[in-house]
Amino acid sequence: MIRHIVAFAFKPEVTAETKDAVLAELETFPNRYPQMRSFVVGPNISARDTRMSHVFTIEFDDEDDLKSYLNSTSHETFVRETWRPVIDQQTLVTLAASSPFRSETAQMALPEITRPRGPYGIQFARLATPELDAAVEFYTYHVGLQVEAHTSEYAQLRAGTEQYAIELVSDPSLTEFETLAIGLSVETEEILDDLEKRLRAEGAEILPLHPRTASVVTRGFATKDPNGLTLEFGFEFYEYAEPPMLEYRPVELVHPFLSTDHYDESNHFYQDVLGFQASDYVMTPGRGTSAFLRSENRYHHSLALRRDDKFYLAHLCFKMKSLDHVMRGRAKALYKGTEIASDIVNHSASHSIAFYLYDARFGPRIELCDGHRVFSEEQNETHKARRMGGDPRNIDVWRAASDDWERF
Ligand SMILES: [Fe+2]
Repeated sequence: MIRHIVAFAFKPEVTAETKDAVLAELETFPNRYPQMRSFVVGPNISARDTRMSHVFTIEFDDEDDLKSYLNSTSHETFVRETWRPVIDQQTLVTLAASSPFRSETAQMALPEITRPRGPYGIQFARLATPELDAAVEFYTYHVGLQVEAHTSEYAQLRAGTEQYAIELVSDPSLTEFETLAIGLSVETEEILDDLEKRLRAEGAEILPLHPRTASVVTRGFATKDPNGLTLEFGFEFYEYAEPPMLEYRPVELVHPFLSTDHYDESNHFYQDVLGFQASDYVMTPGRGTSAFLRSENRYHHSLALRRDDKFYLAHLCFKMKSLDHVMRGRAKALYKGTEIASDIVNHSASHSIAFYLYDARFGPRIELCDGHRVFSEEQNETHKARRMGGDPRNIDVWRAASDDWERF
């Protein structure tokens, strides 16, 4: 689509009647040139730049239509006899518009993608909690989630338009939360089928979805990762037309971070079988390498793995609407005396600023972040994972020195 924009100013001596006559003639243009679309003309109402008094914009299907209008005899006659005598100055801009905008590098043809496709992204986490009502209060007040279902047995809370980001299940026999499942979305049925085939070939169990998950997807299945963690894959998760009308809220759930005593098996499972791609490896002193893995939504990481002596869900990361929202979340935690497990950090690898909340009754550490890096389509196919040393500045660039491990 071509959008042609003409901003102009009449000469000071031009009378109001003449101006009206010229503007009225401009308005007849779409009748003369049927290839014109969305023609609008009117005064420039900008208070910041008043050099031009009026503007008109037109759309064409392509450049040939624009040229046939510009080069037509009637247009040239209009410009010569009506326009130039009364116009003091003008600016012409022509935009070859595509939506959404793609940079020139992105428009370069991507090499054909032959790698096995992974899941699109993280959809939800299902957590058991000994105090369901208090957990609902925690996620609404501190994280900004909206309650969509709340019975005596479970609650579902959402961040953006996705059906739910957190499902809480009541289990009064617990003293701390337990991780029940992680939900992942899959873009197409072909990828879903291929994931199932790859998992079967690996000898992984293929299980039915939890009934509540099955009720909000078109198709899907579950499996278990090498740590015994249930993963639920869904095609066409239901979504809402609009995000919650809440001022303080996350945009979406971005990643779980898994500490694991099956680190190598987990890397093999998530990368070689499920199709996650490594974005970076960062050494953690005393633990070894952590792996930051991305899925098809191209966030720097939709899953992270850290070598440890036992398995647990170390944290869940939510992307907030802005840094302002991260800081408001931090203020809420301070106000309520809720534990801040790690205060504000600048993650160099994923270009995000975050802090971590913690209450073991309700869930793992909750990372509230702003600005998580998203790879371009080309970077997604060509990026080579970096290996970073065990220096705190590789985890938080706001650390002053390489021996500063105290704050994390
Ligand atoms: Fe994180």
